[in-house]
Amino acid sequence: MQKSFLDIFNTILSTVREPLVVLDANLKVVDANPSFYKTFCVNPEETEGTLIYDLGNGQWNIPRLRELLEQALPETSVYNDFEVEHDFETIGPKIMHLNARKIYRESNHTQLILLAIEDVTESEYYKRNLEKIVETRTAELVLARQEAEKGKQTAETSLSEIKMLKEQLEAERAYLKEEIKLEHNHENIIGNSDALKYVLYKVEQIAQTNTTVLVLGETGTGKELVARAIHSFSKRKNKALVKVNCAVLPSNLIESELFGHEKGAFTGSSSKRLGRFEVADGATLFLDEIGELPLELQSKLLRVIQDGEFERLGSSNTIKVDARIIAATNRNLEEEVRQGRFRDDLWYRLNVFPITMPPLRDRIEDIPLLVEYYIKKIAKRMGKGTGIISSRVMNTIQNYHWPGNVRELENVLERAVINSSGPKLHLVDDLNKPFAYLRKNLKTLEAVERDYIVRMLDQTHWKVSGQNSAAQILGLNRSTLRARMRKLDIRKP
Ligand SMILES: Nc1ncnc2c1ncn2[C@@H]1O[C@H](COP(=O)(O)OP(=O)(O)OP(=O)(O)O)[C@@H](O)[C@H]1O
Ligand SMILES: [Mg+2]
Repeated sequence: MQKSFLDIFNTILSTVREPLVVLDANLKVVDANPSFYKTFCVNPEETEGTLIYDLGNGQWNIPRLRELLEQALPETSVYNDFEVEHDFETIGPKIMHLNARKIYRESNHTQLILLAIEDVTESEYYKRNLEKIVETRTAELVLARQEAEKGKQTAETSLSEIKMLKEQLEAERAYLKEEIKLEHNHENIIGNSDALKYVLYKVEQIAQTNTTVLVLGETGTGKELVARAIHSFSKRKNKALVKVNCAVLPSNLIESELFGHEKGAFTGSSSKRLGRFEVADGATLFLDEIGELPLELQSKLLRVIQDGEFERLGSSNTIKVDARIIAATNRNLEEEVRQGRFRDDLWYRLNVFPITMPPLRDRIEDIPLLVEYYIKKIAKRMGKGTGIISSRVMNTIQNYHWPGNVRELENVLERAVINSSGPKLHLVDDLNKPFAYLRKNLKTLEAVERDYIVRMLDQTHWKVSGQNSAAQILGLNRSTLRARMRKLDIRKP
């Protein structure tokens, strides 16, 4: 009975290409199709009636197959795609998908199990290989991306550092190129008077520190000379002394001059520019004519002095610098504070270590030394002999009150050397005739300055710049002279 059923079944099975095997309820092989025998290298004689696990010398005793037949299948009648991987002694490693189906035969209540075996070894190996390749490549890619990211970051940091250094160097170079054009007296500060010795003592005392210094004194007394001396005795001497003249520029330009600006910060700012504070990082910043600094900039300056912090115009990025400040003025800052023209908090900050340059008239014992020094220097420059200075001339020079101080002395001597053809030095300027203000009440420093500038302008027929101009005689930059004229309201009559 069972045989005739299997006969029909067999004819169907033999046409199916996939290996098929039929088991009875005790898991003994009832039948299998030709594909099964062929694929698994077993013959019908040793197969039929054998417990599946004993097949081919126990090669089919596979734990995963037991799992399907003994655990999964009793719970259900159909089980598809049950994956079994096994290394067969005869045919080597195989990956199979098993599709099991229970068949009930109602006539004698027997149950058969049809096991269809799909050999997926090759495709599975292929897939696994691909997966492995994808996995390795992904790991390589992640690593490469991380490395690239790291490299990019390092490159970006170095690039921005290089860019910053380049900018600072360029700004410093541009600044120094301007400075080279100006003539500085890099030699000694001439003088032997107690007043000057005291100044030099104070210079020595403070030079090595980072303390802010305020240099006070009349025009031409050597304030800039002292600022340069402090810098050249300091630890920062190998870097530039960066100077800003607060009297020369209009307030909107001073701001960008001091703090720099970003590209497009204001009309005409076509490129980014570093301010003097940035250029002076690690060096000394000389704020000349600090008394002329507009009030609105005084608070910004206070912040840099207090915290070393500022922002470039058109930027919200805070920049930190370490610049030693030396400020100078010929104004009476205390009076400026009283008049509300100078912030008192800035004044306190600047006035930590004041050095006052004595006027030349208060140290006439220095005059012979200065005369000798300047005559030699000027004569050498002009290719002339030094000549003799009579005691009468020296007396005249020492009795004069020198409102323009050493600068005026230098100019008087220069004119004298130009005009002296013989061995004796002849003064061109009439130093005996005192200025009108001497006879009257004492005047403010500003009035003295005004008178002196007017006198020089008169003498040069109001030639402000160029050869033999008032600016040249006064030893001033022409823009400085113009700024002073504006400030003191000096106009050509
Ligand atoms: N003691 C000195 N020895 C030699 N030269 C001096 C001395 N004092 C000043 N000078 C010279 O006098 C000129 C004016 O000096 P400086 O520019 O330092 O004066 P200042 O006080 O800054 O004047 P101003 O207030 O007008 O800016 C310079 O040429 C400087 O070299
Ligand atoms: Mg000066």
